[in-house]
Amino acid sequence: MCWIRYFRCCCSRSNHPGQKINIDCEFHRTDVYEISDSFDNEFDLIYISIGCFGWMPDINRFFHIVSRLMKDSGKVFIYEQHPFAEMLSSDSDTETDPLKIVEPYFKSEPYEENEGIDYVGKTVFECPPCYWFVWTLSDIIMATVESNLTIKYFNEYKDDISESHERNEKAGVGIPLSYILIAEKAHGIPIKTTHQIG
Ligand SMILES: C[S@@+](CC[C@H](N)C(=O)[O-])C[C@H]1O[C@@H](n2cnc3c(N)ncnc32)[C@H](O)[C@@H]1O
Repeated sequence: MCWIRYFRCCCSRSNHPGQKINIDCEFHRTDVYEISDSFDNEFDLIYISIGCFGWMPDINRFFHIVSRLMKDSGKVFIYEQHPFAEMLSSDSDTETDPLKIVEPYFKSEPYEENEGIDYVGKTVFECPPCYWFVWTLSDIIMATVESNLTIKYFNEYKDDISESHERNEKAGVGIPLSYILIAEKAHGIPIKTTHQIG
């Protein structure tokens, strides 16, 4: 098992979650766009959970990397926030109507943020600019199929898994707030390397 993440605090070898639950697991800290070729064709399953795609400036390149990391017939399981939620205010916004559309669905420029996120202590602090990219469902689906991954399952849900769209969920009108997509890598189709994608 291998866990790849960017932040140092999550990946210190002396204090990683695998040790706590006594499983044989390697932890690697790397930018996903710089994952080494030595991991190619290694993974049976890649799991992508909530809050990943928004940080990715190039979604097509991201999926090509996912695909090259997978074994033939390997699967990617995605459980992400639905892009529809990006159009609505989040729980912490000043907008009081949880059903009002406040942002476009199609957004070519990323949002710039200057506040850090503290998942544990919930403190707010200033940080260097970071960028949140809004990918439509068609961006995600096309990035998947263009990476030689066959979609096996797709479903949308009313559940907020981001902890920031609880008001939209509670409005009770059935807004799509999350989705699951499962895709499988086709046998024997050569995948371009990150170097070829440019
Ligand atoms: C919103 S959090 C999602 C956390 C994850 N879904 C979970 O439940 O543990 C986004 C995570 O993506 C990581 N991240 C952002 N850009 C990255 C990149 N280029 N390569 C690898 N990880 C990245 C951040 O460090 C952060 O841990």
